[in-house]
Amino acid sequence: MNNQLKLLNMAQQAAANAHAPYSNFKVGAAILTSNEKLYSGCNVENISYPIGTCAEEAAIAAMITDGEYLISKILIYADSHTLITPCGACRQRISEFADDNCLIILANKNGIKETHSINELLPHRFKDF
Ligand code: THU
Repeated sequence: MNNQLKLLNMAQQAAANAHAPYSNFKVGAAILTSNEKLYSGCNVENISYPIGTCAEEAAIAAMITDGEYLISKILIYADSHTLITPCGACRQRISEFADDNCLIILANKNGIKETHSINELLPHRFKDF
């Protein structure tokens, strides 16, 4: 299986476990790091709506917990026919662990639909000071 299909598979499995009873919108994210390690995460909502977390956050936390810090590819899967892009906060979260080669792959129930660079999704990003 090529690495994009592996990421799709992992993100779909993560989305299946999402806790999204308020939006009914399940999301999974899967990361391939520069060291070829794989991580996934899902959205976790809360009855106190603002403290719900995004799938990208969970996948990044799993990556950091394992001591990996450079995202080569992150695939975001919406368990829907809608294609989504990461929210602004998650673009910044991805940026923290991305060099200019980082790719963001978007997928939904119809499969992998688009690939964007981090600089396309977050132009003029705040990276160095
Ligand atoms: N969500 C994500 O997990 N990732 C995204 O890229 C966009 C939105 C979640 C947050 C919330 O639980 C649900 O999708 C609806 O916004």
